This record gives sequence, C-alpha cells and structure tokens, in this order.
Amino acid sequence: MCGIVAGVTERNIVPILLEGLKRLEYRGYDSAGVAVVDDSGLNRCRATGKVASLVDKVRQQQLQGRVGIAHTRWATHGAPSEKNAHPHTSSNQIAVVHNGIIENYLDIRQQLQKAGYEFSSDTDSEAVAHLIHQAFLHNGGDLRLAVQSAVSQLNGAFALAVFAVDCPDRIIATRHGSPMVVGLGIGEYFVASDSFALLPVTRRFVYLQEDDTVEITGDGWQIYDAQQQPVERECVENEQSADLIGKGRYKHFMQKEMFEQPEVVAQTLQGRIHHGMLQTQAFAPEFLKALAKVQQIDIIACGTSYHAGLVIKSHLERAGIRTNVEYASEYLYREVAVMPKTLFVSISQSGETADTLAALEKAKKLDYFDYLAVCNVPDSALVRASSHVLLTRAGREIGVASTKAFVTQLVALHILCLFIQQAQDKTINPALVQAFERLPSFCERMLALDERIAEVAKSLRDKSACLFLGRGEGFAIAAEGALKLKELSYIQAQAYPSGELKHGPLALVDDSMPVIALITHDHLAEKMMSNLQEVQARGGKIILFADSRVDKRALNAQTQLIDLGELEEMTASIAAVIPLQLFAYHVALLKGTDVDQPRNLAKSVTVE
Ligand code: F6R
Repeated sequence: MCGIVAGVTERNIVPILLEGLKRLEYRGYDSAGVAVVDDSGLNRCRATGKVASLVDKVRQQQLQGRVGIAHTRWATHGAPSEKNAHPHTSSNQIAVVHNGIIENYLDIRQQLQKAGYEFSSDTDSEAVAHLIHQAFLHNGGDLRLAVQSAVSQLNGAFALAVFAVDCPDRIIATRHGSPMVVGLGIGEYFVASDSFALLPVTRRFVYLQEDDTVEITGDGWQIYDAQQQPVERECVENEQSADLIGKGRYKHFMQKEMFEQPEVVAQTLQGRIHHGMLQTQAFAPEFLKALAKVQQIDIIACGTSYHAGLVIKSHLERAGIRTNVEYASEYLYREVAVMPKTLFVSISQSGETADTLAALEKAKKLDYFDYLAVCNVPDSALVRASSHVLLTRAGREIGVASTKAFVTQLVALHILCLFIQQAQDKTINPALVQAFERLPSFCERMLALDERIAEVAKSLRDKSACLFLGRGEGFAIAAEGALKLKELSYIQAQAYPSGELKHGPLALVDDSMPVIALITHDHLAEKMMSNLQEVQARGGKIILFADSRVDKRALNAQTQLIDLGELEEMTASIAAVIPLQLFAYHVALLKGTDVDQPRNLAKSVTVE
C-alpha cells in the first residue's frame, strides 16, 4: 500500500528517494512520484505503473535536490493516474505526500474551493496540500505550525511529509493512525513509512508516536508531541540486512516463500520446543504468569491472519480456554463485552494493518487482562503497542499472498496454546509436542506434491468459480485455500463448512462446478465423505486433497485426488495448507496473472 520516503541531505537526495521507493514496491502500489525543492523552486516528477517508469522520467528531467519527498500510491480516492499520483502541490509552494485516508476531505475540498483553491486531482490528499498552504499563509510562514493547524482539521488516518519552497531546508512529517519513522544518518535525516526503505542510508531509527510531528533539517531533528511540546523518543538500532531480497532460483517470491516453509517452521520452533519439551526460558516470566491466569481469549485479525485464528480456536477450546475469533474491521465498530481474565490476541504478518492496529487501540480502552501480538515484524507498530509479543519468525515475506507467514502463525499459535496448558498445569501429551518437531519434514513432503498439483490445476484454467469444502480446522484451511485462489487467479472461490452445503450452496453444484475438498484423517473424515457424495450425486467435479488413510471408495472415477500421505493429527492442518497454496499458485501461472502483486491488492493494508 502507499509508501513515503523523504529527507534532507548534503548530497543529491533523488537516488536515495528512488532506492527507497524500490524497497517499498513489494507492498503493492499503482503509481509513484518524487518532488524536490532547491533554489529554482519546487520540481516534481510522477509516473503511473512501476517505479522503473518513474526512474526513467526522473533521469530525463534531470531532477536533483537536497531536500525531497517521494511516494508510492495505492489508489483509494481517484483512479491510478499521473494526476492522482503524489506528491500533491499547492500554489507551487507546498508539496505533500500522504498515506492513509482523509474521511472529511469532501467538506475540506468545498471550503478550499470557496477560498479560491483549484484542484487538479480526484484525491483526498490534494486537499491536505491546499489546507497546509492556507495555514502557512495565515501563520506567517511557519511550516510546522501550518502542518499542525491543518492536521487538527483532518479526520481519518494519515502520515504526511511536507516541504515548502519558502523554507527549503526542512521537512515536516506527522502521523495519526499510520506509521512513520525518522531515520538518523550522519549529517542527514530522513522519514519513511517503513524503516526498510531507509536501510541503505541508516540503521538508527526513532518511531513517531501517535500525533507526533517531526521537523528535520540538515542540522538535526526535533519531535513535538500532540500538545506541540518538544519531546524525546527512544532511538533503536535496526539489525535487519539492508540487502534487497532476491528470488534465487525461483520464478516468483511466492514460490520461493512456499518452498522456505520447512525452514521457517523450524525457525519458529527453535528455542521454544526442544526434544518434545516446552522451553519455558523462551518467554518472559511475567508473560508465563499471565498465561497461567487466562480464562478466555479474543483473537482479532484480518484476511489470512484471521484464518490462523480460526484454526487455533478449536485447540484453545480443547484446552479449556473459551475463544472468540473476529475480523478486526468488525470488532472495531461494535459494542464489546469483555469477560474477566480475557487475553486480547492480535495476529498480523506485517504488524501494520490499520484495522488490526485500530482494534488493539480500542481493546486497550476496554477491560482486557493483557495484550499479546502474534506478529512477523519485530519493529512493527503492533509489536510496539502490545504488552507481549510472540514473533512468528517467517523472515520478510514479499509476495502479496501470504504463505510462509500463515504457516508460522499456526505454529506460533500452537506454541501459545501449549504454553497456556503448561502454565495452567493441564496435562499435555508429550507426543503432541513432539509432532511439531517433525513438522518441517511433513512440509517437505507437501512441497514434493508440486508436480502432481500443477497437473490437477489445469482443470481450473477455464473456470470462473469453484467451492472449497472442509470441516473443523479443515474448514479454516479450506477458507485459506479459497482466499489464495481468488487473490492469485481472480477465480471466485467460496469456502463452506461442508455440513452447510445442503443449506444453500448445493444449488450452485452442477457438472461445471469444481468442488475442492480437504479431508484429514480424523473424526470428521466420514462426515466429509458423505457431503462429497451429495456433491457427486449432482454432477459436481471433485478435486480432493486427502490423507491416504481416508476411505475413498465412495468417490467416482472423475474425482481428481491429491494424496497427502499419512499426516499427523496435531499438525495435519498446518501441513495441508501447503498443497492448497501450491494449487492456487499453479492455477495463477496457467491464467497468466501477476503472482507476486495481484491486481488491486497491497502487502500492508495501512488504510481502513
Ligand atoms: C492474503 C493476505 C491478507 C493479509 C491481511 C492481513 O494472502 O496476505 O489477507 O493476511 O491483509 O495482513 P497482516 O497479517 O499483515 O495483518
């Protein structure tokens, strides 16, 4: 989704800004732009499509300067086009880049139009540029005060970076509900919406807190809090590698990330489970003490992370912990009754998802017992805002469709479940713990099905809709399989608990409807098989991902089988998602869609 890079340097800042934008590309965007200010005034260059197109245009324009702002845009208000790309300007004096959404922009736009401002884009962001310009004129040319005055009139979520031609040595940046970090170089200072954009130029970062504003010049930086008082914020060293991650021998990042799953599962287990034993030193004593008291859990997440919550619900309930799993966007706008000793758990790959962050903020005002983030990005806003964190250790995930992050979320959540049981002195079958140590090799076995899955995927090449069926945890995994298929191949894929079929969806089934089913070797296998016979009786074409021990005699010859071998009960659903990921990947290859950056999607969803 949208990305910001900006800074004040002693050298030409344009290559730094362009490199920063390239590093933000994985987040998903549809246009990009850069603006610099120097003695000749404000110069801007914008382009639709990839950052490479912007780089060509910048070269032709010979854009240079020491102070600049840059942006990748993911369209919200107004189509992806050059006129809607950022930076937006006002009166050739103010330039602004904006992440987020201004909810009251129509009122502001009308008021500014009455005051004589002309708009050249369809965006909410341009209103911010004019509003800052208006405030800049009124307060005698103090850019920081102008930004703060403009921001006080905005509703919504935003991160902004701004410069003015009349004070060309500085950048003002601020945030409200959208992340922003200050990068501290040597004699040069930056801001960005993601520290990864700035790793080639600095390792030292200061995260802006909600409603902070920062002023950066060539001489230094100063943060002001919401009351506009100067404030100190902690500086942290980032230890991530600055290297841009390559695809290695793989065609796509998604393919690479799927094949990394055995390794990242092992990483997630490391130091937490060893020789069938839970390693208590993996967690802070106060976290373990909190787990001992937990009676209920509210899990909040979006998309794939939500599916991880659905999978773990039945395990937590089996351990006697009542569990509620909810989409963050739904949780946000309803009355919530919090029961005593309820732990709030947010799950997020990025730790930046606006809905999940907002849900955590709402939860903090309620009577929760404690707050845990299950997250993949250690320095993310979600981690910083939670009292406890369980890192999923998947490594950076570049493909927009989440794969390895999901599998590591499942492993981390199982670890959480086991630690709760141990902390509450409940009996844990050691065989269950040991099963996790064998999971990496089960993941390898699933990946070995790649060729067979590529073959079966051909039957979906010309389809526009299909159903996914599962039961229990298998339903949550089927839902994740359907999400992968729809986002990658743009095929309408709907998941149902198979028992629900006869309550409506069965009307969709005929000989043109593929029905993709997942059956693991458990107490639900026979029930699943009965539901598949209902599909078969109506001519439905079944693609079955099943444990080899499942009795398949009732299935007709048209059924295409992907034999998963013998999976272990405790980890079956974790392993079984991998063939469904591969299936979506191969259908997308056949359809010729953009696997790593599917249309309309973004890696980090930083707007509501
Ligand atoms: C789907 C996918 C999304 C994310 C969702 C939440 O493949 O990746 O559904 O799971 O946008 O993102 P995080 O986990 O970063 O909060």
